[in-house]
Amino acid sequence: MKTAVFPGSFDPLTNGHLDLIRRAQRLCDRLIVAVLINPDKRGLLETQQRLDVIRQALAQVKGIEVKAFSGLLIEFVKQEQSDFIIRGIRGVQDLENEMAMAWTNEKLLPGLETVVLLTRPELAGVSSSLVRQIAHFGGDVSPFVPPAVDETLLRLYNKRDQSDDTPTKGGE
Ligand code: PNS
Repeated sequence: MKTAVFPGSFDPLTNGHLDLIRRAQRLCDRLIVAVLINPDKRGLLETQQRLDVIRQALAQVKGIEVKAFSGLLIEFVKQEQSDFIIRGIRGVQDLENEMAMAWTNEKLLPGLETVVLLTRPELAGVSSSLVRQIAHFGGDVSPFVPPAVDETLLRLYNKRDQSDDTPTKGGE
C-alpha cells in the first residue's frame, strides 16, 4: 500500500490545489493532505478553518485524509509512514523552490521522493496569495476557489468590516 503526503499552507485552498489533490489520489492508495501549522506567520485563515474548508471541498471525494502538522515535514512523513511527497508546480517560478525543498527533504530523510505534478494550464494563474489579495479588496474570488472557501472568506470579511478591523495580509 502506497501512502503519499500532499503538504502545503493552503491559506486558502484554491481550485488549483483541489485539482492537484484529486490527481494525486490516483497515484497512491492513501493520500494525506497536510496543512502546515505555522506559529510564526499569522495567515488569513486559522489552521482549523483551513482544515474545515478542505474537508468540505473534498466531501464528495472518498478516502482522503486531511491533517495538520507542525515542525519538519519529514517528521510527519515518518509518523504517517508515507512513501512519498506530492507537490504541484505552476511554472518555472515554482520550480527552483520545489527543487530546493525536495533536495532538502531527501537529505534529511534519504530515499524520500518528491513527486511533482504540473498544474493544469487553466489553473496555473491561481495562487493563494492572489486570492487573499482579491478578498482583501472585496473582489469576487469564486472563479478561483471552491464554494466552501468563497463562503468562508465572505463571512470573514463581512465580520471584519462590521468590526472595522483591518484584515491580515499574509505572504504566500
Ligand atoms: O503551500 P506552501 O506554503 O508552498 O507549502 C510549503 C510547505 C508547507 C510544504 C513547506 O514550507 C514545509 O514543508 N514546511 C515544513 C517545515 C520543513 O519541513 N522545512 C524543511 C523542508 S524544505
